[in-house]
Amino acid sequence: MSHRAFVALPGAEAAAARAASLLDARLLLLHTRRFPDGERYLRLEGEVAGATVAVVAHLSPPDELLLALVFLADTLRDLRAARIELVLPYLPYMRQDARFQPGEAVTSRSLARLLSGSADALVTVDPHLHRWRSLDALFRLQTRVVPAAGAIAAWVRDHVPRPLIVTPDEEGAQWAAAVAGRVGAPWRTFGKQRRGDREVRLVPPVLDDVADRTPVLVDDIVSSGHTLAQAVHALRAAGLPAARCVAVHGVWAPAARELLKQAGAAAVVTSNTLPGEGAEIDIWPDIVQAIASLDAAR
Ligand code: R5P
Repeated sequence: MSHRAFVALPGAEAAAARAASLLDARLLLLHTRRFPDGERYLRLEGEVAGATVAVVAHLSPPDELLLALVFLADTLRDLRAARIELVLPYLPYMRQDARFQPGEAVTSRSLARLLSGSADALVTVDPHLHRWRSLDALFRLQTRVVPAAGAIAAWVRDHVPRPLIVTPDEEGAQWAAAVAGRVGAPWRTFGKQRRGDREVRLVPPVLDDVADRTPVLVDDIVSSGHTLAQAVHALRAAGLPAARCVAVHGVWAPAARELLKQAGAAAVVTSNTLPGEGAEIDIWPDIVQAIASLDAAR
C-alpha cells in the first residue's frame, strides 16, 4: 500500500476514491457541516501523522470551498501530516492575471500566496496561463501541470471525421496546436476582444481552404459560454458544418449551456476536471500519473 492518503472536500469524493484506488492508497474521511450561524465544522477521520496527504477539491464555484481547503490543510499540519499535496484539477482565479484597472485585485497572485502557505505541492490541469509564463512564476510549492491535449485529441479522433481545430482566441493557440498536431488536422484561431464579463468580439480567421471540414472549437474554459457561442455562429456564417465545442474546464455559469445550444453547437463536451453534464473526456488517469510522479521528485 502506498504511503499516501487521499481526502476529498465535499463534491470530490468520487474523484478522490478513484485516485486512491488507482494508486493503492488510503482514503480518509472528512466530516464537515455548517454550524447554525453558517461557520464551518471539519473533522478528519483516520491517522495522518507522518503521512503524505493529497487533498482533492473541485473548486468551482471556488469561494466557499477555498476556505474549507485552507482549514483542512492547516488541520493536516496540526495533526502532523508529513506532506500536504493539493489536487485541484481546475485552478480558479487564474484569469485575473494583471491589474487592468487601478485598484483591482490580481487574484491569481493572491490565490497563489494563500495556497503556497498551505501545502507542499499542487497538481492541476492546464491552468489559465496567459500573462504568467508558468505556475512556478506564481506558486512557492512543488507544481505539476497535467496537459489535457492528449485526452482531447483522443476524443476528437473517436468522434469527429476530418476535423478542423479552431480556437476562439490567441491564448487558445497552445491547446489548438497541440490537439491538431496529435490528430493530424489543420487549425485556425479567431482574434478576440473582450468587452465585458458577457461580451466578446471575435474576428474570424480565413476558412476558405478548410470549408469541407468539421470544426472543433477548443478552449481552456467555458464559463458564460459567450466566447464559444460567438465562434459557433461565425463558423456557421462562414458556411462550415455545425461546430463541436470542447473545453478543458466546464465552469458553466447559469444559462451557458442554453446559449451554446441556441448558437447551434453540435456537441459540447469538457474534460472531467469538474464533474457535470458533458464532462466525458477522462483526464483522471493523467492526473493520477502526475500525483505519482510527485514521489519521484521528493
Ligand atoms: C479566456 O481567456 C478563456 O480562455 C476563455 O475563452 C474564457 O474564459 C471563456 O469565457 P466565457 O465562456 O465566459 O466566454
